[in-house]
Amino acid sequence: MAAGKTKVRAPKPLVAGNWKMNGLRGAKKEINALAKKLNKLDRLPCDVLICPPTPTLALLVETAKGSKVRIGGQDCHPQVSGAHTGDVSAEMLKDVGAKYVIVGHSERRADHEETNALVAQKAAAGHRAGLISIVCVGETEAERDAGKTLSVITAQLKGSLGDTFDPKNTVIAYEPVWAIGTGRTPTTAEVGQVHTHIRKRLVARYGEQGNGYRVLYGGSVKPANAEELMAAPNVNGALVGGASLTAEDFYGIISAYL
Ligand code: PGA
Repeated sequence: MAAGKTKVRAPKPLVAGNWKMNGLRGAKKEINALAKKLNKLDRLPCDVLICPPTPTLALLVETAKGSKVRIGGQDCHPQVSGAHTGDVSAEMLKDVGAKYVIVGHSERRADHEETNALVAQKAAAGHRAGLISIVCVGETEAERDAGKTLSVITAQLKGSLGDTFDPKNTVIAYEPVWAIGTGRTPTTAEVGQVHTHIRKRLVARYGEQGNGYRVLYGGSVKPANAEELMAAPNVNGALVGGASLTAEDFYGIISAYL
């Protein structure tokens, strides 16, 4: 079958929580509460993921066992192992039961000067370990004000994705830096514009397969705005920071798909 003719199903949405540097072991009560709410549903039309800090990851994998909640890491080193103090490898995340890893979050790009090339290596490390890599992209406020949003996103996608990536092992998250943790969000039309641009870039690079990628929106997603944001064209889920910390709020966002 010619590449252009390959049938690609519409991607199943993913609602992912990024706990960042929040939560002690007691946070497992939120996983339990979330699992309980999800277990009451006959059918869950989206995948649900929580990415806690590394120290609680193994505990929360155990807590989530048998439920519809998946657990992932927030970052990984490109290497399998070695002299890299303070880092964790994708294999270590996989070993304790993680299914996904976030790479290239804007806080890592800013705080640790991560480049697109490094992000691509980290995403590939996730694949090597058998994880799904969530690759984040997004413009700063200055870039948006300068009318550079789409060109910034194009360059980040080009540099942060590898030619061998595919929709089964990679998720894209569009997170405008100025919308993260600020309570400000782009309009639905602006979100749709960027997501449609991302979809076109994915199809240009990966052919029909590009339609299979999940493209998440992230940045101040809350229960009150989730339904509207998730309805924008080419949005296949959310990457949620603050509002993923309590089961109640996170379930409120998941409800956009129920
Ligand atoms: P926020 O964070 O939902 O708190 O804005 C989103 C993110 O950084 O993934």
